[in-house]
Amino acid sequence: MLKDINVLLGVTGGIAAYKACDIVSGLKRINANVDVIMTKSATELVSPNTFQALSRNAVIIDIFDTPRYWNIEHISLAQKSHVLLVAPATANIIGKVANGIADDMLSTTIMASTAKVVFAPAMNTKMYENKIVQQNIEKLISLGYQFIEPASGRLACGDIGIGKLADINEIIRFIVNIVKSDGDLKGKKILVTAGPTREAIDPVRFISNYSTGKMGYSIAKAASTRGAEVILISGPTALHAPPGVKLIKINTALEMYDAVMDNFKEQNIIIKSAAVSDYRLKVISEHKIKKDEGNLNLSLVRNPDILYELGKIKEDRMLIGFAAESDNVVKNAKDKILGKNLDFIVANDITEEGAGFGTDTNIVTIVDMDGNIERIEKTSKIDIAHRILDKAKQMLEVRS
Ligand code: CTP
Repeated sequence: MLKDINVLLGVTGGIAAYKACDIVSGLKRINANVDVIMTKSATELVSPNTFQALSRNAVIIDIFDTPRYWNIEHISLAQKSHVLLVAPATANIIGKVANGIADDMLSTTIMASTAKVVFAPAMNTKMYENKIVQQNIEKLISLGYQFIEPASGRLACGDIGIGKLADINEIIRFIVNIVKSDGDLKGKKILVTAGPTREAIDPVRFISNYSTGKMGYSIAKAASTRGAEVILISGPTALHAPPGVKLIKINTALEMYDAVMDNFKEQNIIIKSAAVSDYRLKVISEHKIKKDEGNLNLSLVRNPDILYELGKIKEDRMLIGFAAESDNVVKNAKDKILGKNLDFIVANDITEEGAGFGTDTNIVTIVDMDGNIERIEKTSKIDIAHRILDKAKQMLEVRS
């Protein structure tokens, strides 16, 4: 599957270094060529011979203390690699790269590479959550480096929390997605909506929902890394816009409506993953509402259904909706495709564990206008994002 693709795997000195052996095996199984660089501390945990046997390539290790002995191997490896994966990535390597330090073979190679660099961190929860580590990660993300978020669970040190190396299959899928979709959406303009909307009640209160925006931001990120020009119209979230994506922040459904209508004309694909409030207050109180003896009744009026409005004027643009359902997922999705003139809909059953709001994973069923149904079992939101874009691309190709 990844024939003629060169993956350079950097193994650093975390306890999870042994899991990197499975990454090499997994990548070899799908025909990638794998070169391995180990840091000095990684060699204390796993023998280079193991990586050599699994990768069928010589393993590069730091055997000299100063750069003056290094040959140009790091340059040639940096140049020939399509993807550079650091797994496990310790706080140390993340910190070094974020601060421009190149003092060993791995950090020097990363510095000399123009390939996509992906970090799969693994470390103790407190270390991972340390502000310095988080700032370094944020800085690297803003510079276009990619991260595969660690999983939560029992760590080698006995603590329970975030910091386990992500699932090996997820790491391999992440690499496959990067390689196979490199630049394939270049020239396409994609508008994504994400997050919740907020409908003010008074100056201090609002009506909203549990959407965190993770699905929409993942789509924006995946589309941007695949070369598309992306506009992300987002309700309030705690997330950062992916690098290269134009972010338009809104609060209310009406603001989202305006922003979408201002921008939709130039788009090839519109993906509406936002959880838009169907209602807003008839009258927003100018002053904080004081409590009283009796009940308080709020009068709500309908917001425009942005997706429905777009469906009426979409012409040959591709329009993709989302549906959060708790029953009759496929039937409701089919009804919404017809009712809102969609090309396809991504339906998630919010009652399933690992699906819906706030999770890093999702389980979705894609239903298209021709009645084709594709179920995607529990996987990361970034993986689902790529699958949605694959589907959109495939449908555009059939039409042209
Ligand atoms: N949507 C929208 N504008 C709204 C409400 C929803 O554009 N005012 C879009 C959402 O972004 C999503 C899709 O409509 O892509 C489906 O939203 P969902 O709430 O699941 O379904 P509804 O169509 O609102 O129907 P219902 O709430 O009755 O299930």
